[in-house]
Amino acid sequence: MDSQTMMMLSEKYVANTYARYPVLLVRGKGTRVWDMEGEEYLDFVSGLAVCNLGHCHPKVVKAIQNQAEKLIHVSNFYYIEPQIQLASLLCKHSFADKVFFCNSGAEANEGAMKLARKYAKENMGKDRYEIITMERSFHGRTLATLTATGQEKFHKGYEPLMPGFKYVPFNDIGAVKKGINSKTCAVMLEPIQGEGGVNCPSEGYLKALREICDEKGLLLIFDEVQVGMGRTGKLFAYEHDGIEPDILTLAKSLAGGVPIGALLIKKGIAESFNPGDHASTFGGNPLATAAGVAAFTALLDEGMLENCRKMGDYFLSQLEEVKKKFPFVKEVRGKGLILGMELDMEGGSIVTEMMQRGILINCTMGNVLRFLPPLIVTKEEVDRVVKALEEVFENM
Ligand SMILES: Cc1ncc(COP(=O)(O)O)c(C=O)c1O
Repeated sequence: MDSQTMMMLSEKYVANTYARYPVLLVRGKGTRVWDMEGEEYLDFVSGLAVCNLGHCHPKVVKAIQNQAEKLIHVSNFYYIEPQIQLASLLCKHSFADKVFFCNSGAEANEGAMKLARKYAKENMGKDRYEIITMERSFHGRTLATLTATGQEKFHKGYEPLMPGFKYVPFNDIGAVKKGINSKTCAVMLEPIQGEGGVNCPSEGYLKALREICDEKGLLLIFDEVQVGMGRTGKLFAYEHDGIEPDILTLAKSLAGGVPIGALLIKKGIAESFNPGDHASTFGGNPLATAAGVAAFTALLDEGMLENCRKMGDYFLSQLEEVKKKFPFVKEVRGKGLILGMELDMEGGSIVTEMMQRGILINCTMGNVLRFLPPLIVTKEEVDRVVKALEEVFENM
């Protein structure tokens, strides 16, 4: 069947929740993907920060093949070998002592908020349930996580929202202090806001949040669904600031493209989850966690963090040069290989123009071009994207 027919069938049978580009991708390798007609694209979207290792990393492919032949799924009634291996790896390389596995970022954040509420009721008092989150944040599309998301556009049509959330501006310590009351149990945020426009924390902000949470006995929850697993040049974004959260959520790239989510938890807090308190049929399933072990190992063993830092610095410096030439570029920002370019106009048409030049990029918040290449990206590939971007800007 040709791609036009397939796209028509998609319109007919798939729920209309995505504004899609008229491209049907069928194959991927490294930094490249190909459509049904064989057209090649340089992928600076990476499935929205999922394919950090590049597409179809051979170690991940092999692990999936091997595991699929052995055991695809069993219930969490039983111990699961790759689940144990992935949890051990995550704890060994982070602040965490325990891991809960699920299947997506939203689910991980649901778990984090459930755990925070339960821990608070048991340890802080029965009326402690309120979670402070940030304006422009994004935490997912389930009812609780869309409520946690500090952007009205995601709330519309789904009211009444979940009770127990308060929003404050990102990077405003005073607002957090003012927002805390006798009901507050946690502060939850993305250490770098992704969907909200690649907004970075100002110097000392995350450290100050940690101090306030310690002083007031509140939990600090980091949503690293988008920025975890190497995207910022460190395994976890919190490492840049010399502090640790109490709970951290992961998903996206954790299993090299296989759906997964995880909740990383400090010891004293993990104790609030006991058998029956929280669960997921597929969470930590053999196939996903086997992929996760392979992805984790490849990320650490193949110099990807170093490449991410190096290419991230280079890419950012090149985008700075572009900014100097075009006055409609307001700011470039980001860390590692999550980079944003804020324009003083809509950026949607630029994404389309880049696509016509065989390059996939994304635009968020309407006017922030977002670049999320695989962490294996080369200097030549960065140069190609920067050159194409300049061409598109010059023709505007
Ligand atoms: C920071 C953050 N949290 C949560 C989510 C939700 O993840 P999922 O779409 O896997 O539910 C996303 C998705 O983009 C995200 O960027």
